[in-house]
Amino acid sequence: MCQWGMRQSAELENHMTSVERVLEYTNLEPEPAMETAEEFKPKGVWPSEGRIEFVNFNLRYKPTGDCILRNLKFTIEPKQKVGIVGRTGAGKSSIIQSMFRLAYNEGMIRIDGVDIANIGLYDLRSKISIIPKILCYFRELYVTTWILYKNIRMKKCSKHWQMWS
Ligand SMILES: Nc1ncnc2c1ncn2[C@@H]1O[C@H](COP(=O)(O)OP(=O)(O)O)[C@@H](O)[C@H]1O
Ligand SMILES: [Mg+2]
Repeated sequence: MCQWGMRQSAELENHMTSVERVLEYTNLEPEPAMETAEEFKPKGVWPSEGRIEFVNFNLRYKPTGDCILRNLKFTIEPKQKVGIVGRTGAGKSSIIQSMFRLAYNEGMIRIDGVDIANIGLYDLRSKISIIPKILCYFRELYVTTWILYKNIRMKKCSKHWQMWS
């Protein structure tokens, strides 16, 4: 009887923790819209060329935290290949994250002239891809990257270095 009582009280405690979590989740600020509002839908195919512009751009990971990227201004023209170098913690990955709107963006990022702040999260994220640098650690990732590589290569190029032109 005593054992049963102990077990019941532990179980009650567990269930109450679940309730507490659900209540906390209901207080979270909802994510921005997944789909683009009708008035902001890009006309025709978007993105069509791939021009990326950062206009006086700042990034924070917390609404009240420090700016991780400050006043970034640059344009990447269509088909231009760009390497970003910097020591660990310089903000290279943050530049990519800001294009997916994963943290708090200030200023503007335009892709083919469209401000990505006005694009729904699903619409935006489904148009950008990352080829990860860690090829061999996760078998699935390696396979995906290999298939991507083969598709590009088989489509146009007989030599792997022609893929880049
Ligand atoms: N998810 C995160 N939350 C809070 N701070 C972060 C997060 N990711 C990165 N940072 C901070 O942002 C800065 C830039 O990091 P990161 O973009 O990862 O640099 P890099 O890719 O150049 O090594 C670092 O100071 C790092 O601590
Ligand atoms: Mg990084």
